[in-house]
Amino acid sequence: MKYKIPRGTQDILPATSPLWRIVEEKAHDLCRRYNYKEIRTPMFEQTELFARGVGDTTDIVQKEMYTFEDRGGRSLTLRPEGTASVARSYAENKMHGWADQPVKLYYIGPMFRYERPQSGRMRQFVQFGVEAMGSDDPAIDAEVIALAMNFYQELGLKGLKLVINSLGDKESRNAHRSALVNHFEPRISEFCGDCQQRLETNPLRILDCKKDRDHELMATAPSILDYLSDESSAYFKNVQRYLESMNIPYTVDSGLVRGLDYYNSTAFEIMLEGDGFGAITTLMGGGRYNGLVEDLGGPETPGIGFALSLERLLMALETQGIELPVEEGIDAYLVTMGDNAKQHAPALLHRLRAAGIAAEADYMNKKMKGQFKAADRQKAAFTLVIGDDELENGTVVLKNTETGEQENIPEEKAIEKIKEERGA
Ligand code: HAM
Repeated sequence: MKYKIPRGTQDILPATSPLWRIVEEKAHDLCRRYNYKEIRTPMFEQTELFARGVGDTTDIVQKEMYTFEDRGGRSLTLRPEGTASVARSYAENKMHGWADQPVKLYYIGPMFRYERPQSGRMRQFVQFGVEAMGSDDPAIDAEVIALAMNFYQELGLKGLKLVINSLGDKESRNAHRSALVNHFEPRISEFCGDCQQRLETNPLRILDCKKDRDHELMATAPSILDYLSDESSAYFKNVQRYLESMNIPYTVDSGLVRGLDYYNSTAFEIMLEGDGFGAITTLMGGGRYNGLVEDLGGPETPGIGFALSLERLLMALETQGIELPVEEGIDAYLVTMGDNAKQHAPALLHRLRAAGIAAEADYMNKKMKGQFKAADRQKAAFTLVIGDDELENGTVVLKNTETGEQENIPEEKAIEKIKEERGA
């Protein structure tokens, strides 16, 4: 029996894992500068958390969750996203009582959705997300958006397009909802089964339907922006003003509705302009979710955040031919000549590594030539050669593989020298 990796998942092999480290490092560094602190929540939660938090009418809850019963008969679900978990944790840990508000958190970790896999759409993918909870200052909306834009920009991505919208407050949404129902109802039979259901459960989601995207009623659908309350409208203008003050270009698109139920007020996505990226061009999505914490049993709490997948980011970087500065090569390769030297190798390797040096030696009984070849392949900055003479004298032949310079020096000196040169 041959085993295969599950559909929609991937092995990240050593050739690409350094890229992951670099983009994760960038996320950590950016969050340090913006003063967001890392939170790690469990990979699975009570199913009810997502049903309630993400919303019963969403594709995620209806079709995409990995739900299972544990041995105690509880229904659990592999997290399809991070916001519901963070909101749960905010309520459960009484973060509203923390001295510093808003509580600014971020996470990097795998999410699971049973989707039809295609390029840029996986069943397990890694999201980097941030959540700022406790403030309804439009400046924090702009900060969250700026953080996301900076993340991509500092990694060198070009052709970024920021799209924003406001989904309004309850009052605005109710008015818009009625207008949508009036608009679609007379001809709803021309729409797909999902949309017919959405008319009752969540008519806003009709605007996001892939199947009915080209129906003429879509283009003429009432815009949420025409139904914003004065307060929502002023809030949205302030967000835009802050973005302008940071020189962050954006487009307002009233068709941007987002696929999760907890959203209201500011919503945004970052897309990639231009071809070559397959069908999916959305890199990141986020928005406000005032009321989510309350829905999950906490106090009334405003919140805003975004999430993006590192898979899509890495695809975008590859498409644009952007090479990240991967550090290659080890510091030292220990080449041994003869049995005695080979037996001495583990102890010397041990000392090299304890000194902070990335060191390797042969474990395949290779001849000297093969050992040098391995040193070459692994881009060792130095080789250390030991034979019987060196063993007797406690020395090594240390060679700088780049300059070709070599000298026979005591082991301790060699270790010092490598450390110095390599900054170990
Ligand atoms: P979302 O739009 O469902 O929002 O996902 C956000 C991002 O996660 C997408 O823009 C994309 O980069 C990535 N993503 C989603 N599904 C997949 C997939 N199947 N394969 C690869 N990448 C994927 C959320 O998850 C919200 N929790 C975002 C948020 C945080 N809103 C407020 N705070």
